[in-house]
Amino acid sequence: NTDSGAPIRRLAAWDTDSLCNLAAEFETPLYVIDAQRVRENCARLLDAFPAATIRYAIKAHSGQAVLKVIRDAGIDVECASAGEVKAALAAGFNGNRIQYTAVNPPARDLDAIINWWQENKQLTITVGAADTVERLQERGFDGRLCIRVNPNVGAGHHEKVTTGANAKFGIPYERVSELATQWATEFDLVGIHAHAGSGISGEDLSSHEELVRRMGTLARTITECAGSLEFVDVGGGFGVPYRANDPPLDIHTVAERTRDALGTVDATLAIEPGRYVVADAGVLLTRVNTIKSARETTVVGVDAGMTTLLRPAMYDAYHEIENISASPTTDSMPVTIAGPICESSDIFAEGRSISAPTRGDIIAIGTAGAYGYEMASTYNARPRPAEVIYDDNTAKVARRRETRDELDVLETSSDEHSVSLS
Ligand code: LLP
Repeated sequence: NTDSGAPIRRLAAWDTDSLCNLAAEFETPLYVIDAQRVRENCARLLDAFPAATIRYAIKAHSGQAVLKVIRDAGIDVECASAGEVKAALAAGFNGNRIQYTAVNPPARDLDAIINWWQENKQLTITVGAADTVERLQERGFDGRLCIRVNPNVGAGHHEKVTTGANAKFGIPYERVSELATQWATEFDLVGIHAHAGSGISGEDLSSHEELVRRMGTLARTITECAGSLEFVDVGGGFGVPYRANDPPLDIHTVAERTRDALGTVDATLAIEPGRYVVADAGVLLTRVNTIKSARETTVVGVDAGMTTLLRPAMYDAYHEIENISASPTTDSMPVTIAGPICESSDIFAEGRSISAPTRGDIIAIGTAGAYGYEMASTYNARPRPAEVIYDDNTAKVARRRETRDELDVLETSSDEHSVSLS
């Protein structure tokens, strides 16, 4: 199916009866992913960037079922850890479709990556530090290398997701061409890479353009002094609107402005969107378990919390929220929607108007497909939620609910591994 569909899928577009049935069948909290919507998002990207290499940033959602949909759509992957590379390999991506971006990589990650690289030398490794290059060389690596540039241009929906101007990421722009010249003699130098940040909106597009312009200039310099590059990767970060009234990013405009800003380079454009592919393909369903009148508000307690969906607690992120059990005639009321975690930041929304809830109602939280399940934790000894994926009118469990017993499988009481410090 190549229908690229509407540019954004709002919470209201989901079939609420089906969602309520899924909550009843699989229990809550429950992530629901619509495979067809992932396909549509892939198709829209392929349509807007026909000549580019598109790499899906797995960190947005690394579940096997989703990865297989993306693999079949013909999109490659960008992985931020050995674990993500393992997930990509398991989903059937060949090494030539995998780019591993090493971010201060632990030795354990590098060892695993090098093992995979020995099997498939088409794997590309992106490095953001000269030190990482040395560590790769110590392990015998002389393959496909890409340099992560710190372009000193950042963007994004929150300061915590701005990467382009953050010293943790990449090699300073000014130093890259010299290092490229050296590394081109030691490796197969295939590309340069930069990522401004995450959640770039229409207003941020000029920062994205500035980054791309710098990357174009750098690519031309490197081509002259170090030889030709295969690709210039200008990162991901394309935002999706979380609020009902926010306009969607016009991906064709992004594509056009990206190509213009890059200018003529003797290399293929590459992009790495994560959120754009999966965000609006997912909703989180949670059940109301407690309703109470507090001093200033009515608190609606639900069974999902910051351990299920961290974004509101971590970035003050806004997600659409609806009571999908209520009848259309139910009056709305402003409420605070809170989770079961013993932390005051465990709040999904305050002063939010939803159809008056009663205990047992199902609350749907929209645009939860990206950085939702991926950032779930087991804090407060709370098992991670289940996830279902539906396709062709069939919903099946993609990630089963974690059990409480599984939370202590790592506990050991024996002296199996101990050391005497005296
Ligand atoms: N490439 C690199 C090198 C990245 O670091 C990222 C995201 C991406 C691509 C994909 O960015 P996207 O297209 O998904 O915006 N947890 C945060 C987002 C953190 C993103 C980190 N890097 C959130 O929930 O908003």
